[in-house]
Amino acid sequence: MIEVTPLTPVFAGRMTGIDVRRPLTPEEVAAIERAMDRHAVLVLPGQDISDAEQLAFTRNFGPLEEGANSGARDSELRLPVVFADVSNLDKQGRIAARDNKKRMAALGNRLWHSDASFRAIPAKYSILSGRVVPERGPDTEFADMRAAYDALDPATKAEIEDLVCEHSLIYSRGQLGFTDFTDEERERFRPVRQCMVRTHPVTGRKSLYLSSHAGKIVGWPMPEARGYLRDLIEHATQREFVYTHKWRLGDLVMWDNRQTMHRARPFPAHEPRDVRRTTLAGDGPTAAQLAA
Ligand SMILES: [Fe+2]
Repeated sequence: MIEVTPLTPVFAGRMTGIDVRRPLTPEEVAAIERAMDRHAVLVLPGQDISDAEQLAFTRNFGPLEEGANSGARDSELRLPVVFADVSNLDKQGRIAARDNKKRMAALGNRLWHSDASFRAIPAKYSILSGRVVPERGPDTEFADMRAAYDALDPATKAEIEDLVCEHSLIYSRGQLGFTDFTDEERERFRPVRQCMVRTHPVTGRKSLYLSSHAGKIVGWPMPEARGYLRDLIEHATQREFVYTHKWRLGDLVMWDNRQTMHRARPFPAHEPRDVRRTTLAGDGPTAAQLAA
């Protein structure tokens, strides 16, 4: 029997009674979707799955996002291109050197973000499978952006209602001093526009759509926009809105990027970590884009 135990008073749930290695029934798919709409983050423990099983599970919920690896070249990839490699391993399976470019770029995951908010059509769900999990973290923290929105005062809600932000990997990585982009990457990572307030298509709940990829608010002076975004992220990630996931081997964790932000916490650089993400494409853009 499928059961969901809440993990915090506001969001996130632990789901048992599903075996991800087997094809799901339509009822099981519907139960997961209902639980995702409600809890926004689901932890399915004890799912010792292969890449093929993870892909089959993911496809129950819609089309995969193409090229989920944030800009890494195919020749550098350790995993099939439909996976985002969130490990600290290089192509040969060794722990990546501290100054490995892919590793340094991935350190951007330690900033609060919503996956693929730097794409014109951002991600719906992310599904992360823990294959090799170090003893001492890293934890993944999630923030409920619906609860964060609900807690804003009416004046702020009115001010942000129609705001549009520009998101790019260049902004998020730039916050960590990572500016090593080729001309081709600068072109590929050109900012995209996202609305700041999203409404969930099923529940109708509003949420703050924030991410460290956001570096501009359309029509605002840059320093004012950056300060405002920083304040909103600080508000949205107060402890009462956050669930901290401590990984155990075989955990499968899925989250709705439309309703949550997340970040990875630091962990010892010399311990292998192999976590693999599949990502579901969103339904469409959240804001009108500038003509290319
Ligand atoms: Fe992420």
